[in-house]
Amino acid sequence: MKKILMAILFTSLLIVSACSADSEDNNSMKQSDSDMKMEGMNGSNNGMNMGGMGHGTENLKELNNSTGENELNVPPILNSNKKEGNNVYYTVDAQKGKTEIFKGFETNTLGYNSSFLGPVIELEKGQNVQIKTKNSLDEVTTFHWHGLEIAGNGDGGPHSIIKPGESKNVNFKVEQDAATLWFHPHPMEATATQVFDGLAGLIYIKDDKEKQLAIPQDYGKNDFPLVVQDKSFDKNKQFNYDEVFNPDGTTGDTLLVNGTVNPRLTVEKEKVRLRLLNGSNMRNYVFKLNNNQAFQQIASDGGLLNEPEELTEIRLTPGERAEIIVDFSKVNDGEEVSLVTEEGTVVLPFKIKDTVTKESENLPEKMNNISINEEERSKEVTKKIELFGMGEHVTINGKKFDMNRIDFTQNKGETEVWEIYNKPDMMGGMIHPFHLHGAQFKVISINGKEPPANEKGYKDTIALDPKDKVKIAVKFNKPGTYMFHCHILEHEENGMMGQVKVQ
Ligand code: C2O
Ligand code: CU
Ligand code: CU
Repeated sequence: MKKILMAILFTSLLIVSACSADSEDNNSMKQSDSDMKMEGMNGSNNGMNMGGMGHGTENLKELNNSTGENELNVPPILNSNKKEGNNVYYTVDAQKGKTEIFKGFETNTLGYNSSFLGPVIELEKGQNVQIKTKNSLDEVTTFHWHGLEIAGNGDGGPHSIIKPGESKNVNFKVEQDAATLWFHPHPMEATATQVFDGLAGLIYIKDDKEKQLAIPQDYGKNDFPLVVQDKSFDKNKQFNYDEVFNPDGTTGDTLLVNGTVNPRLTVEKEKVRLRLLNGSNMRNYVFKLNNNQAFQQIASDGGLLNEPEELTEIRLTPGERAEIIVDFSKVNDGEEVSLVTEEGTVVLPFKIKDTVTKESENLPEKMNNISINEEERSKEVTKKIELFGMGEHVTINGKKFDMNRIDFTQNKGETEVWEIYNKPDMMGGMIHPFHLHGAQFKVISINGKEPPANEKGYKDTIALDPKDKVKIAVKFNKPGTYMFHCHILEHEENGMMGQVKVQ
């Protein structure tokens, strides 16, 4: 009964929103684009009703548990082409390949400088960086540096198309603090598929301040990236995005960490730093340890928190990062420890080496010095962003993305207060992770209250539950046109994106 009622509600909602979409000046290109997607959607057995009804939760595919049979892939640190004093040169090549994700099967995948996913680009604060971006795919792409403070013309948004076979140099100076960032494509209509098929890499920014802190920083020994993504494979073990496409966000039943299926991570009895990235198209995760052991969060999207924050679970929505410290010297002998989701899905079992406990220093008490100053706190809201809708009918401030429309302007170096509101619909609404390009922001308040301690650091992506109203302090240090959007990649593709021009 409840289901039928929901279906009626949903159908009428569709009609209402379809009407309002018609009244907007949608151009014909967009119209045909959405027709195209509708077709793909109806063709899947995960049809319209499921997609919409689920509101991003009911329709989630159930995830497998990692059996732990494969040691986790640790992505290589990208070698520079050349280093001259403070100048460093890299090449990042988007390419197609085949990857043996499952033993005995070759999956067609995309990757940066490899067949699948990408390396870690390790940059030092203060460096002048040149990245030659090369498109070896047979479709257009862009190179977007998620979380990086870079001028708009190097940011790799949907305007910065690189055609197959072409290259472009991107130049910037690293002026932000140590942080774990990432990069991925951002072309109109193909971001979600290209990420799903494997285009995603990491950027580590390093600085002297961080290096002096007593936190694990030995890459691949006690400091590991964990790129968590849910994928689907067809019976031939291929990605088949169209088959599993869902307009409210495509999910999969197979968890990959750094591209490894059924991963395990071998660690020593010491403090280990895990740099978590939710690189999924839409799935949210609440991560915890199966034994409920506490861990310390030391960094958010934009770098170190002021102090390590003790937590027993952490939620990451698509695009968000968190660095956590798990102390394996505290684990009882013989105890099995895994990173799990709140539903109990095993993401990553740990294999703790039978070696002596390494005495490691306590984590530093103070790591950073970020605060909301009086000026920021008392400033009026100058930009309001209303996230609304679901599926094909998502909007920001009632509008769909238009490449030729600038939604806001802001002066470089000037702090403004943005208010983001997740307006619920008649079915309640869903979580939208709001992401801003080109700047790291500070969270002033969530529903009028101070943010939790682990959201008091710099962020570039923030989850809004339905009805949430979030105030953020935004300052762009570089000029250009930047995107802001929902990081559910299908919502972004469906037009839940706008542009701010900074000069
Ligand atoms: Cu991670 Cu506009 O994206
Ligand atoms: Cu971004
Ligand atoms: Cu969304």
